[in-house]
Amino acid sequence: MKGYDESTYGRAFADVYDDWYGDDPRADDLVASVAALTRPAEGPLVELGAGTGRLTAPIAGRLPDCRVIAIDSSAEMLDRLQARGGCERVERILGDMLDDLPDGPLSFVLASYNTVFNLVGEGRQLELLQRIAASLASGGYLAIETEPPVGDELDDDSTADSSVTVRHMTADTVVLAVSRHLGDRRLEGHFVEMTDGGRTRLRPWSIRWFDHFELATMADAAGLEIAHHGADWPTDADAFIPGPPADPHGRRVTILRRADSGIRA
Ligand SMILES: C[S@@+](CC[C@H](N)C(=O)[O-])C[C@H]1O[C@@H](n2cnc3c(N)ncnc32)[C@H](O)[C@@H]1O
Repeated sequence: MKGYDESTYGRAFADVYDDWYGDDPRADDLVASVAALTRPAEGPLVELGAGTGRLTAPIAGRLPDCRVIAIDSSAEMLDRLQARGGCERVERILGDMLDDLPDGPLSFVLASYNTVFNLVGEGRQLELLQRIAASLASGGYLAIETEPPVGDELDDDSTADSSVTVRHMTADTVVLAVSRHLGDRRLEGHFVEMTDGGRTRLRPWSIRWFDHFELATMADAAGLEIAHHGADWPTDADAFIPGPPADPHGRRVTILRRADSGIRA
């Protein structure tokens, strides 16, 4: 999308992010799982694309002895994170999740709901996994949460489809979800917010999605192995389910570790 770069999403969504996406029934399970799996003595925990800190704050609260680092490419998002109670000691990096990943060893790297899909440049998702593999502590984990788009029309070769649906509507406001598929698993769109008597607000987004099978291939190429792959966040390492998934659709939690870590669940 012409004019779109890695800071566009955060600038467009920071003011509504918590209202629109803050009510996530899975957040408590995510936080408990991350806290149980992180070994603070092995290095900092890094959250990629941490956004407004809706997850960073409770994670930092559960891990008082762990350095917690939040990376985001949007100053607007990080400003909100900084102002959020519970994030006072969180270290912030305004930058790119791949180019500005801190040096290891890292005890845990978290990429929550579809955050890695924001890395749209060719080969950048694989590069990210390679970079994390090189930075993880031997007992460290990378957790990636995704929900790939569904629909027969979203096969790899499809380029034709676009859609407009209603996200939200009141008597004086409507938010339309506009999207188009570019092929090669690239999708882009806008939330178009129109208010009676007010101005139209555009909230653009752009993603490259992958499914579990592509993630498994990228992980292997990066020197990572899948410790857990399931619909839910595991309570601890004893609850890992190595997969493959019974149902490849829906929201998925994939937890990876270095293939040379020697750790087995
Ligand atoms: C879908 S939001 C998720 C926010 C947070 N992880 C959560 O679950 O609430 C994606 C975040 O990634 C950030 N982002 C997008 N591209 C990025 C990049 N290349 N590097 C770092 N952050 C990025 C956006 O600014 C946004 O805050």
